[in-house]
Amino acid sequence: MNAQFDELRQQFTKEVEEAKNTEDIERVRVSYLGKKGCVTELLKGLKNVSAEEKKERGRMINELKNEVQARIEERQKSIAAEMEKFKLKTDERYDISLPCDPSVGTLHPITLVQRELEEIFASMGFAVEDYKEFVTEFENFEAVNIPKHHPARDMQDTYYLDNGQILKTHTSAAQNFILTKYGAPCKAIFPGRCFRNEALDASHETTFFQMEGVMVDKDISISNLIYFMETMLSEVFQKPITVRLRPGFFPFTEPGFELDIQCPFCGGTGCQTCKHGGWIELCPCGMIHPNVLRMGGIDPEEYTGFAFGLGLTRLAMMKFGIDDIRYLNSGNLKALDQFCKM
Ligand code: DAH
Repeated sequence: MNAQFDELRQQFTKEVEEAKNTEDIERVRVSYLGKKGCVTELLKGLKNVSAEEKKERGRMINELKNEVQARIEERQKSIAAEMEKFKLKTDERYDISLPCDPSVGTLHPITLVQRELEEIFASMGFAVEDYKEFVTEFENFEAVNIPKHHPARDMQDTYYLDNGQILKTHTSAAQNFILTKYGAPCKAIFPGRCFRNEALDASHETTFFQMEGVMVDKDISISNLIYFMETMLSEVFQKPITVRLRPGFFPFTEPGFELDIQCPFCGGTGCQTCKHGGWIELCPCGMIHPNVLRMGGIDPEEYTGFAFGLGLTRLAMMKFGIDDIRYLNSGNLKALDQFCKM
């Protein structure tokens, strides 16, 4: 009996080793463990042997069956792994740059608002630029007229990297790069992620998004700023928007403003969104400070320009009625998905 089992084992081992793909190993499985497989036949044959032989033989057959089963599973796994490796090496490579299936999931509310704004500004002739998230202190501060020890730095504490760079606190950190790259005249927007050392609450996050814009040319004035902001915001809210400017201080503007919009939800009569004031503070802006133009290689005697720093996160929250900023970075798909479907 032992000899018969040994022979079977040897034959099985040979067949398993020779199996090169899933079909081969399946064939081996069926021929040993299938309904008419030889191990199954051995089990069936037990009914013909005497009671005392049955016990020992039954144990041995079961042992063989378990062994065969385990070996087959092992080989199935190794074949799957080999095939995966083979795929990676041959024509059937994974192309990680292939677009994903757009029918799955939704875009993040901030991405939606960002894309919408990019389209609007592009239609008004603005270039759309991207910029780094970690920048030098010079880019973030000095280049926008905030020298070392200037009190304005206090409000923009951020994260410092070991190499002396910082995570940018505002998209204004790219102003110098954009002015230098395009020179005058220039029209560009540059959305981006910004970081600040903030205590978290419903309206403060350490990570948020802004969209900066600059327009530089001969004779650019505050009227141009108002016109562009009004046109852009009317597109965003799909209705005529009235804006007003209040004085605001930013070291990189002269003069600087806080731009408010008349509440698009109640038309200015007062509601929850505008906290019953009728106006919503939306976008700090101003005429670019001569020092900033000069540092960007542009002669302030010849050219003037406006700049603005739109809070993308803020705008997305308003547009989608999101009342807690922490949802946006939470990765809570249930919440985000719901906003995007509105
Ligand atoms: N960078 C400013 C901030 O994050 C916002 C800002 C104000 C940007 C005025 C501008 C501007 O371009 O002109 O607080």
